[in-house]
Parts: sequence; structure tokens; C-alpha cells
Amino acid sequence: MTDSTPRIVVTGRIPDSGLDILRTAGDVWAWTDDEPIPTDVRDAQLADAEVAVTLLTDKVDDAFLAAAPKLRMVANVAVGYNNIDVAACTARGVTVTNTPGVLTDATADLAMALLLMVTRRLGEGERLIRSNTPWKWGMFMMLGTGVQGRRLGIVGMGGIGVALATRARAFGMEIVYHNRTAVDDATQQRLGASLVSLDELLTSSDVVSLNCPYSKATHHLIDAAALASMRRDSFLINTARGPIVDEAALVAALKNETIAGAGLDVFEHEPDVHPGLIELDNAVVVPHLGSATFETRGAMADLAANNVVALLAGEAALTAVN
Ligand code: DGY
Repeated sequence: MTDSTPRIVVTGRIPDSGLDILRTAGDVWAWTDDEPIPTDVRDAQLADAEVAVTLLTDKVDDAFLAAAPKLRMVANVAVGYNNIDVAACTARGVTVTNTPGVLTDATADLAMALLLMVTRRLGEGERLIRSNTPWKWGMFMMLGTGVQGRRLGIVGMGGIGVALATRARAFGMEIVYHNRTAVDDATQQRLGASLVSLDELLTSSDVVSLNCPYSKATHHLIDAAALASMRRDSFLINTARGPIVDEAALVAALKNETIAGAGLDVFEHEPDVHPGLIELDNAVVVPHLGSATFETRGAMADLAANNVVALLAGEAALTAVN
């Protein structure tokens, strides 16, 4: 590599296939530990970097950008980019990319899995057996709620929302959704889905699934009032971002059984989980596993790397967000 070879800093551990692609485009330095990169190490590496490849746990804010005066690009290995101050990047002429599309199926699979887990009380059943509690089959033992003919209300009908609706249709669910704009007619017809107000979705759905991006506008979208408007026998699924839900209000709703249950992949103060959720049998909690398959994580790393290759070759990035 020559002095003019662009320096690419990868701030977290990513699959090798992504690193191999990046190496075709520049001089790559990568943090290879699963623990977060210490800020002083990160800043020292960023000093000459033209590209930063980041994870959703990296906060790309003014301090990050100040440490990287030559930066031209931030390639986030995630579809969500609420960890990045996009306006600050734009102001400095830094292109930001994300990884849409490649994690749609994995995340929709996980949302459907949480939906089934919480409605059929699978976490509770697992805990029962693992705690060596004596049990025998019983006609009324641990009855759950069937999903067939039930209404699924999807908040945020992007790719993941549509993929979840497709799965839920195969389970016999009826679909309503809330989104800024309607999905195309063919998709709407295929899913038998209708666009409704958030209020109608919350008050009429048996299961509410959050699949919208996190932003100021969606912070605590599901607050105490929204939870109070949901049916007592309804369930909440969140595979989007934790702070879309007021977690303390959710704990109260689950404790008081003003909703029936929640399936959560994401948390308001991740990686901390509200202690109330841990105690509750009607909450299913998993550690942000939406895109956690070998295939998907590889595809995310590859897409982030291909964005870098394109931009450094003087072409438009494949999936820029600014
Ligand atoms: C994303 O890419 O935003 C997901 O949350 C990762 O699982």
C-alpha cells in the first residue's frame, strides 16, 4: 500500500468476508476483539482514517468525528443508524451508509418467533423444565393464545414489516399497519393488509409489532397512554429499537396485566434490561438477536464493505442515507 492508499478503520469485530472486501479498497485496520474498542485506541486509529466501518454500538458523534479529520465515509454494519449523528456527518461532507435488505428475513423471522413464544408461553415452559419443577401434562396446563384469525398490527411497514406480515399471513393472521405512506397495491392485496391510524391499530390489534426506525419522532411512541389503549388480551413485540417503548411503562402494563405479554429483542437502555422485565413471566426477552445468523451477519459486513469499495472508486455508495 502506498501513502495515498485510503485508510479504513473497522471499529468492531466483523465477519472475515467483509474484511477481505475492504482489503481490496484500502489499508485496513480492524479491532478484532468482541469487547468494545477503547476510545483512546479508536481515536488514535481514526486520526488518518478516510473510512470508518462501525457497529450499532459505536456512537458516531462530534467527538468521534473530531478525532477523524480526514473522514469521508461512515459505513454502519446495521440497517438502523440511530447511533450516528447523520446531520453532523453531512455537515462535514461525510457519507453515511447502512445495510438495508440483507437482514430483512432474519429480523422478520425473529419477530415471528417472539410472537409465537409469547403467545404460546414458550419461555415460561422452558423455565419450568429447566428449574426441575415437577410437571405432568394437563388439559389446562399453561394454555396460551392461538394466533389464527387474530389481528397483527405492524407499526412501520418497510421491508421488515412486510416480511413479518408475509409470515403472519401464513399463520392465518389478519394484517393492519401504520406507516407514513401506504405500501404498493400489489403488496397490500397479497397481504390483505390495510393502512390504519396508530390509534386504531393499538386499540384493535391482538398483537402489535414495532418495525419502525428509531428517531426523535418515535421516542416513547409506545408510552403509558399507548399501552393503556391496547387491549387487555393483546401482546407487544419489539424488534426495532428499545427507546421506541417507555420500558418502565411497559413493565407496569405487564405487571398490572393491562396487556397480556411482550416479546422483546431490544431494550431502552441496552444492554441493561429493566429488572421488572426479568421477573415477569409474561415478558419474553432475548439479547438483540434480530440479525444474528451467520448468513445475515456475513451479508451485512459484505454490503457495508461494498459501499466502501464503491465510494472509494469514485462511485455512488450503494445504500447511502445522506
Ligand atoms: C440493525 O441492523 O439495525 C439491527 O438492529 C441489527 O440486529
